[in-house]
Amino acid sequence: MEKIKSIAIAGKGGTGKTVVATLLIRLLAERYNNRVLAIDADSAMSLPYTLGVDVEKTVSEVRKGLVGRDQLRSNLKASPTKDMMKDILTKAEGFDLLTMGRPEEPGCFCAVNELLKYGIDSLVDDYEITVIDGEAGPEQLNRRVMKSIDVLLVVADMSRRSLETAKSIIKVAQDCDDGVNIKKVGLVLNRVRDDKLSQEMIEKIGVEISACLPEDSLVNSFDRSGRSLLELPLDSECPRAISSMLDKMLPQFGI
Ligand SMILES: Nc1ncnc2c1ncn2[C@@H]1O[C@H](COP(=O)(O)OP(=O)(O)OP(=O)(O)O)[C@@H](O)[C@H]1O
Ligand SMILES: [Mg+2]
Repeated sequence: MEKIKSIAIAGKGGTGKTVVATLLIRLLAERYNNRVLAIDADSAMSLPYTLGVDVEKTVSEVRKGLVGRDQLRSNLKASPTKDMMKDILTKAEGFDLLTMGRPEEPGCFCAVNELLKYGIDSLVDDYEITVIDGEAGPEQLNRRVMKSIDVLLVVADMSRRSLETAKSIIKVAQDCDDGVNIKKVGLVLNRVRDDKLSQEMIEKIGVEISACLPEDSLVNSFDRSGRSLLELPLDSECPRAISSMLDKMLPQFGI
């Protein structure tokens, strides 16, 4: 059985992608002996806060030194992309973090996404597992930024709109047939409460529910005070839910 090397988190804005990514990074660091690559693929740069790390260099800054999308491609062929990417990693206890960063100037963000894709592809083999915290919506899947994905987790809260977005992201993932080879797509339901209407919609989406996370006041209070979510007690509700998801999921890939 082929081992999984990467897990990407997608979903509508504000549904809990970064919370899920942070908890995964923490729990996988324990299971994979600290050999985890964390990717913040969101220009809003939330992941460094929830991971409690200071980022000095970003993919966006690297891109500034390279111009234009087509020229970027040829520059990348000629120059050691991997070395450039290794150079901007933030090293932390348990994981290394690659951060896309904010656009420095107005205009198209294609070139940064392109560079990020090269960065992810060149680094994944150096780690046991990679966790990608994606931008809201299906755009990065559309642009194949998330090319090296084995498992796609789509986060939705119980709102109709977030479930509709989850459905469209899952459709994009299932329709990818040009080198993107996602082995598993799962739905992560966040801030779950008893809601009959949502239950019907969830059934229609038709993919496995990988985890259900309750509303967790600790997550909220940590976030509000800017405290790293890596410090959440492991026996609190959200870490427990993600941990049991991994207990179920990893053996499916012979781990
Ligand atoms: N299970 C939960 N219990 C309580 N609060 C939660 C839970 N999940 C997420 N939150 C809160 O919801 C907010 C949004 O979460 P998060 O930043 O993870 O969403 P996101 O999908 O990454 O957002 P964005 O699209 O802006 O990147 C945060 O303030 C977070 O603390
Ligand atoms: Mg986020």
